[in-house]
Amino acid sequence: MAEVRLLNVNKRFGDVHAVKEMDLTIEDQEFLVMVGPSGCGKTTTLRMIAGLETVTEGEIYLGDRLINDVASRHRDVAVVFQNYALYPHMTVYNNMAYGLRRRKFPKDEIDRRIREAAEVLGITEFLARHPRQLSGGQQQRVALGRAIVRQPSAFLFDEPLSALDAKLRVQMRSELVKLHGRLQTTMIYVTHDQVEAMTMGDRIVVMKDGVVQQVGAPKEIYYQPANLFVAGFVGSPPMNFINCQLRREAGALRLTAPDLDLPIPDRYAAALQTYQKPEVILGLRPEDLHCEPVPGSERFPTVDMTVEVVEPLGFETILDLTTGHRNLTARVSPRIEPQESDRIPVMLDTDHMHLFDPDGGERLVG
Ligand SMILES: Nc1ncnc2c1ncn2[C@@H]1O[C@H](COP(=O)(O)OP(=O)(O)OP(=O)(O)O)[C@@H](O)[C@H]1O
Ligand SMILES: [Mg+2]
Repeated sequence: MAEVRLLNVNKRFGDVHAVKEMDLTIEDQEFLVMVGPSGCGKTTTLRMIAGLETVTEGEIYLGDRLINDVASRHRDVAVVFQNYALYPHMTVYNNMAYGLRRRKFPKDEIDRRIREAAEVLGITEFLARHPRQLSGGQQQRVALGRAIVRQPSAFLFDEPLSALDAKLRVQMRSELVKLHGRLQTTMIYVTHDQVEAMTMGDRIVVMKDGVVQQVGAPKEIYYQPANLFVAGFVGSPPMNFINCQLRREAGALRLTAPDLDLPIPDRYAAALQTYQKPEVILGLRPEDLHCEPVPGSERFPTVDMTVEVVEPLGFETILDLTTGHRNLTARVSPRIEPQESDRIPVMLDTDHMHLFDPDGGERLVG
């Protein structure tokens, strides 16, 4: 069992409260991704799990074992960092053998593990080379290999792909997911790339200022963001936010703003019954603003907007729109080819609206 459990974990560096009351269980064999903006405490959390940083308060378990006071080298976790830190004067083979030799593994066992890992990673032909004779992606594979040969109970990755170019990153991303399937080992993966988070994780943890904001499957995080921060952080371009008045009108609920008057779906009525404030923040994802009919769009309210910027990306087009009162972003089909300063009708998919409490940003519905 390689479940990793954090119980009320806190980390302070002097006055900096880097990780706050973190409760999190990473299941055995899970691929868990931690995301959040720079400085939110991702690396610190990983380093505490790895034993490279002390825990100020709280408990960390690996399986049933409390590991707070267990030295890093006895924790049975392997860490892969962004700068892979291979030994430049050693061959790939010796880089991979180094840790096992230090742990006094028998020679033939070391050899067997290295050849197996090299095979999995497709680096067998590089075993005799030195790191400087390899590309960035190949070096990254060696760093992975060095972790794999240890056969740890859990892998910890800290932005391992961020030094690679875009294409190689995409490729290594899917290789890592395949590797996880093959090794069936717990993996904790830190990134600030939300595409990596969405595509790789069984579950995602979103952090901000040392505090866990939401834990859930990628779809859950995307479709039911727990608060304004998660809603704005996950998704690119980000969700549109609009301050609205909540009006009750003959039993039905409506949202109004100087340039908008929208119905709220009936299925949200029950959840909003106890909400007493006059204001809410409406969230609409760019893909929920439509410029051409889609199933159900005959029911969507239409608002005329002016096109400010057209950004064709090939497979889709991003439009910066303005109602006159506010700017909104739409993600539309590349078939739509409006010109800048065109006035166009835009359909708002109110079925997929999100509503947030303006005080504190908690999700109300959607
Ligand atoms: N050794 C340290 N001494 C003092 N403060 C530290 C130390 N290490 C980290 N911090 C602070 O703790 C907070 C969390 O840092 P951490 O490195 O965990 O962030 P991160 O989420 O990994 O960010 P990034 O995406 O930039 O890597 C930051 O405010 C950082 O300045
Ligand atoms: Mg970091």
